[in-house]
Amino acid sequence: MSDKLIIFDTTLRDGEQSPGASMTREEKLRIARQLERLRVDVIEAGFAASSHGDFEAVKAIAAAVRESVICSLSRANDRDIARSAEALKGAARARIHTFIATSPLHMEKKLRMTPQQVHEQARQAVRYARNLCGDIEFSPEDGYRSEPDFLCRVLETVIDEGATTINIPDTVGYAIPELYGQFILDLRRRVPNSDKAVWSVHCHNDLGMAVANSLAGVMIGGARQIECTINGLGERAGNCSLEEVVMAVRTRRDYFKLELGIDATQIVPASRMVSQTTGFVVQPNKAVVGANAFAHASGIHQDGVLKARDTYEIMRAEDVGWATNKIVLGKLSGRNAFKQRLQELGIDLDSEGEINAAFARFKDLADRKSEIFDEDIIALVSDESVTPEHEHYRLLSLAQHSETGERPQARVSFAAGALEHQVESDGNGPVDASLKAIESRVKSGAEMVLYSVSAITSGSTESQGEVTVRLQHGGRVVNGVGADPDIVVASAKAYLSALNKLHSKAERVAAQG
Ligand code: KIV
Ligand code: ZN
Repeated sequence: MSDKLIIFDTTLRDGEQSPGASMTREEKLRIARQLERLRVDVIEAGFAASSHGDFEAVKAIAAAVRESVICSLSRANDRDIARSAEALKGAARARIHTFIATSPLHMEKKLRMTPQQVHEQARQAVRYARNLCGDIEFSPEDGYRSEPDFLCRVLETVIDEGATTINIPDTVGYAIPELYGQFILDLRRRVPNSDKAVWSVHCHNDLGMAVANSLAGVMIGGARQIECTINGLGERAGNCSLEEVVMAVRTRRDYFKLELGIDATQIVPASRMVSQTTGFVVQPNKAVVGANAFAHASGIHQDGVLKARDTYEIMRAEDVGWATNKIVLGKLSGRNAFKQRLQELGIDLDSEGEINAAFARFKDLADRKSEIFDEDIIALVSDESVTPEHEHYRLLSLAQHSETGERPQARVSFAAGALEHQVESDGNGPVDASLKAIESRVKSGAEMVLYSVSAITSGSTESQGEVTVRLQHGGRVVNGVGADPDIVVASAKAYLSALNKLHSKAERVAAQG
């Protein structure tokens, strides 16, 4: 059995299914490039048939990323599969991933199909897909809750039809490590042609065991592919977290004895990028990528680490991409220095126009903040206003007044398409007044379900504030993110960014619908 562990990243597909995490084509492309720098083996770029936007995103990623295999999800029908094949045409290496539910509950209640019909549809789907692409992954959705005899028959059939990877999802996060590992092992032993495919694990985190289950699937079950997402992003409690499985396998190489192609120094930049793009903030005590993951507060620990690092550290912060807070640029830095720093951070802006827009924002920030850190630069390019041509709403200026004992007032001017609006409101605080002013004109009717502020760089009130706003409207949930040294301005940007997402009205077919 191979000792190479394939890392299949599904941040852009399963991760994006978290309410509010939907991303634009440009955002997905930026993250895909970072995943390529991270050297993930397979990038699931989207679900091409789910929407025009997703089709375009898969197509753009297939054209831009050359090192990783690019994959598109498809339900088990000809239309979805043909759409994936079409979107993947430009890929250096393409994979079509097709799935159909096989658990009694899903077949009866969701699909309203008999097991025989599901079996036949799986056969037809893989046969059709295999004519379009040499690399085919098949997933029996809710596989872990499927009846093993039936599942073995379906898997034998799809491998006969040419499936090259067999992925066993624990769709609802119900598994327990030992049982899931044993389940995979039993399937591999019972399916007569199991050696013709790579076996893969795909675990959800509803009981907090997605990473443990995935690793058990590898060690007990013999799987050689793990499906995971950056920061564990994903519906409900999320998916198996890439940074955790990768660092577990790497740190405990003595036990796992598996090879990984990953460049771990790109983990923290990838985590920052995904959290800034989606507005899903990483909890401070999150393993590997949380702000406190390498912070030692207690005197005893600090003393120990100063004397010998490995007294309390099993990994080195710099090995996973934590740069010590470096002042990288300042007010006097020129365009070339800025461009070079972007390159060093692995940020490829597509055009000179984008670089110029980002540089203008950098200059603006440097006028107001004396020290610019790497995190500031990442926030600056993640900010959607770098690509104004794609935005409907844009903040032009904001003035607010607040004084003890008086009700705060805000005046905001913003663009909506070609029109400029000037609006005013009062509110409980300056943020409330500013957002009420915008809403008084936009009249989105959206409900705000989350508002959060955090400092981009710690240690000083000079830091930029990063604001996330989550809006819910007509069954859709969107996140907007804005960054600025002035948190009222950051809030207005975040609100407009969320309104832009509502405005774009991307309709999607749910992958598990
Ligand atoms: O969780 C799941 O079952 C999935 C499949 C579509 C692979 O994401
Ligand atoms: Zn999933």
